[in-house]
Amino acid sequence: MLEEKFRESVARLEAPSDLKESMLYSLEAGGKRIRPLLLFATLQAFGEMPEKGIHAAAAIEMIHTYSLIHDDLPSMDNDDLRRGKLTNHKVFGDAIAILAGDALLTFSFQLISESANVDAETKIRLVNEIAKAAGPEGMVGGQVADMNGENQQLSLEELEYIHIHKTGKLLVASVKAGAILAGADDDQLETFALFAHHLGLAFQIRDDILDLEGSEEKIGKKVGSDENNHKSTYPSLLTMDGAKKALAHHIEMAKGNLKQTGMNTKLLEEITDLVANRDH
Ligand code: IPE
Ligand code: IPE
Ligand code: MG
Ligand code: MG
Ligand code: MG
Repeated sequence: MLEEKFRESVARLEAPSDLKESMLYSLEAGGKRIRPLLLFATLQAFGEMPEKGIHAAAAIEMIHTYSLIHDDLPSMDNDDLRRGKLTNHKVFGDAIAILAGDALLTFSFQLISESANVDAETKIRLVNEIAKAAGPEGMVGGQVADMNGENQQLSLEELEYIHIHKTGKLLVASVKAGAILAGADDDQLETFALFAHHLGLAFQIRDDILDLEGSEEKIGKKVGSDENNHKSTYPSLLTMDGAKKALAHHIEMAKGNLKQTGMNTKLLEEITDLVANRDH
């Protein structure tokens, strides 16, 4: 469903063919699609069909994909491998990679504004949530803090700020988007957001762990990137054992929040277990 949406919506763009090719190259490279999954699973908890969230899910995955293209650039993490393939800039060059990222980001909001089965007020709420999560107060702010923190010994508080922003916020927005589309009330929104906050922290802690303990073949990216870039990570600050304890803590909190909703959140629980134990 998602793959089809990517292909079909990029194909109909009147844009230079190398730009479209570069956008599709990264979108179709795969990836776990955890953000769309979270959105669909949240809709399911409210008894709604996934179709309702297809535009928002595709938009969020486009924003995530743009963030990875830019994250891998020589001026950022300088990585050559992503989702088991050469990074976008290695294939298309830095300029097209930067512009494909820009295009994915902008096009994501076009997609949401064009979704036929969502009313205007809901679209504005979605745009607002997703923009806040992806922009200066969210992911971009976190990425800047991550870059500024290179070659420095950060406090755990500073590192938590980075993780919450660069990774957590977009995961929270994915869950909130599902809840908004399902017509959740404020209390429900808050509980689901808290769940995703803990899940987001757990997700990035696991990413840090896999950067040390993972296998390149499974994670589809080079191991040791953080060490090469002199980044502070959970394992570097807390030791591997401490990082694993922090991961377990946030998984437990996330599950507690799910229980608190009193809804059928089986699928979200399964995703939470996946995040805790993932090897890719
Ligand atoms: C990688 O995200 C970057 C982080 C925010 C940790 P994912 O681990 O979700 O990457 P894909 O989409 O599966 O490739
Ligand atoms: C990147 O974090 C987060 C975003 C792209 C927003 P990382 O730099 O740790 O992600 P990977 O390890 O390259 O996937
Ligand atoms: Mg990075
Ligand atoms: Mg990186
Ligand atoms: Mg990483």
